[in-house]
Amino acid sequence: MSNILCIGAGYVGGPTMAVIAKHCPQHMVRVIDMNTDRIAAWNSNQLPIYEPGLEEVVNLARGRNLFFLTDENIGEQINWADIIFVSVNTPTKSFGLGAGRAADLQFWEKTARQILEYATTPKIIIEKSTLPVRTAEAMSQILNTNSRGVQFDVVSNPEFLAEGSAIKDLEDPDRVLIGGHNTPSGKKAVETIVELYANWVPREKIITTNLWSSELSKLVANAFLAQRISSINAISALCEKTDADIEEVAYAIGTDSRIGPHFLRASVGFGGSCFKKDILNLVYICEQQGLPEVAEYWQQVLTINEYQEARFVANMVHTMFNSLSGKRIALFGAAFKANTSDTRESPALAVCRELLEEQADLSLCDPYALDNARVDLGDLSEKIRFILDPYQAAEGAHAIAILTEWSYFSELDYQRIYDSMAHPAFIFDGRNILDHQKLFEIGFNIYPIGKTPLQHFA
Ligand code: NAD
Ligand code: UGA
Repeated sequence: MSNILCIGAGYVGGPTMAVIAKHCPQHMVRVIDMNTDRIAAWNSNQLPIYEPGLEEVVNLARGRNLFFLTDENIGEQINWADIIFVSVNTPTKSFGLGAGRAADLQFWEKTARQILEYATTPKIIIEKSTLPVRTAEAMSQILNTNSRGVQFDVVSNPEFLAEGSAIKDLEDPDRVLIGGHNTPSGKKAVETIVELYANWVPREKIITTNLWSSELSKLVANAFLAQRISSINAISALCEKTDADIEEVAYAIGTDSRIGPHFLRASVGFGGSCFKKDILNLVYICEQQGLPEVAEYWQQVLTINEYQEARFVANMVHTMFNSLSGKRIALFGAAFKANTSDTRESPALAVCRELLEEQADLSLCDPYALDNARVDLGDLSEKIRFILDPYQAAEGAHAIAILTEWSYFSELDYQRIYDSMAHPAFIFDGRNILDHQKLFEIGFNIYPIGKTPLQHFA
């Protein structure tokens, strides 16, 4: 039996520890956070994040071998634990050297110093947060300054879950990656973490590597995923010029088993808390290592993403007779993807901000993400109506923009919506989730991504 502590009860720490606690009833799991509201929510019936299946897992383990606590007695918690997962946020640095690109490691370093201050018995420290390659070296250096002779083994175990499918991804991961030092105690630490995951993950899916490969693989995995989206989005622009259809192209190339069908959905752009920050971090590391050509290569993934968002808004402006001023527009979707309440780096909010610049009159509609959107938009939120009901949001609108791929947006009664809108009525489908032909027949003018528009006027 082990005592497992996780520092950071966010989108990763909370679900990951809940799944570990579910599958390892022999271990005790405590998750702590300095955000007391977040901990209160984890202990309530209204969990702090929306994630399909999360409530069931939490309800099963919470109070049995899963406990959410504030960091009030962090020293006691650190001493209680044998294994400490560090799952704190690692945002992009907003100040000083590397501002806007490097990872801000202040939260991470603070936890290292807290562990150093309080630990009196040996610990395995697990990097769960996404970190620049060679961070474990800094962590080891900080920890090994302890004068008490306490043994610390730092292990990298990056998380690959995607929001909206976090529980499924944790229950049945493609792989679990564990990196450690090639020393006797390093190998033992890796084996302990392998044993932990082997409680429910088949051994052949548990990959062990050296520390640096593990840290770097996490950044590279996100960079490759984002690169695929930027690649298909770049081609979507070409499709719109040539009457090719992006879905047909994606299908045609995706059936090549070497390319594969995933992550080829053209969209208004990718969002989420990690793709942008991790690529910025990768670019920064390459520059620091004297590899400007490599840095520039990955930077293009972000450039195309910004281009795609800007292109979407420009298309709305040009299509609606070069003026959006005072025009009512219903934005369907605020979350950065479906099945999450998360709005961090959401393309929906980027579009929202740009449309406000055009003085459009906006209604924002989302089933779970309106509270987060309000916070993220700050003062701008006063200029927007937040409406849960899509029918109400679309009433009197000149246009609808689909910004999140919530499936229920494709199941609405669009005849009813059309009848309640101003005419001509426009739909800009930033996710290609609607039945375009059917909507065109109702009377809408349709502007998908990477496809020929369907419009009732020349
Ligand atoms: P998050 O912001 O949701 O959660 C981090 C939590 O850590 C916050 O609640 C914060 O209050 C807490 N915290 C920070 N410093 C602390 C301290 N010293 N003591 C106690 N609590 C502290 O972030 P997240 O989305 O869970 O991401 C965490 C890490 O995991 C990041 O490095 C991210 O890149 C990585 N990651 C995220 C995802 C994802 O889907 N969100 C997926 C894979 C990896
Ligand atoms: C992503 C990765 O998929 C996870 O493996 C990783 O652990 C995580 O980042 C992280 O490190 O935070 P996430 O951002 O939660 O997960 O969600 P994704 O499904 O990857 O979607 C990211 C964005 O890309 C969303 O805005 C989504 O709508 C968009 N997307 C995705 C597309 O536009 N097209 C696609 O084909 C796929």
